[in-house]
Amino acid sequence: MRHELNLKATIFLYDQLDQLSSTDQELVQRAKIALLNSYSPYSKFKVGASILLEDHTILIGSNQENASYPLCVCAETSVLSMAGSNYPKDKILAMAITTKGPKIAQYPAAPCGACRQIILEYENRQSHPIRILLYTVDQQIIEIPSIKMILPLHFDNRYL
Ligand code: THU
Repeated sequence: MRHELNLKATIFLYDQLDQLSSTDQELVQRAKIALLNSYSPYSKFKVGASILLEDHTILIGSNQENASYPLCVCAETSVLSMAGSNYPKDKILAMAITTKGPKIAQYPAAPCGACRQIILEYENRQSHPIRILLYTVDQQIIEIPSIKMILPLHFDNRYL
């Protein structure tokens, strides 16, 4: 027998930044500030990420490229490594990601597959979802309640 299984993902869209809570607005603003430190001379695609810790501390990171292209570090990975290294016991409540690149797409850019897997590890390690906000100027804001929404059938430590 072949069974069909439909995997469901729920995300939320906002038309404007002022529809977000003041904390979320601040988180997005900090991700925009993070864009300024993006080192992306090769792709010309800037990515800024910010994370909100339980005690309301906000950390920021950006993509850091390398002439050896595969060594480029994504903004999400960059800021999560900082959180894990410096605040290992603090729960991460939310992450905002913003991009600035040469093209305008219909929706804000979403984290790459590798970053989704890395975000998943942080979610699992703290047993608490990380809400994700995607923001690109002049586009709707996307809110994703957990990385699991956009990483169905994921691989994690349940198999190890
Ligand atoms: N990039 C990120 O920082 N995060 C992602 O989720 C996708 C891609 C960066 C890597 C590289 O510096 C540039 O964007 C173009 O791929």
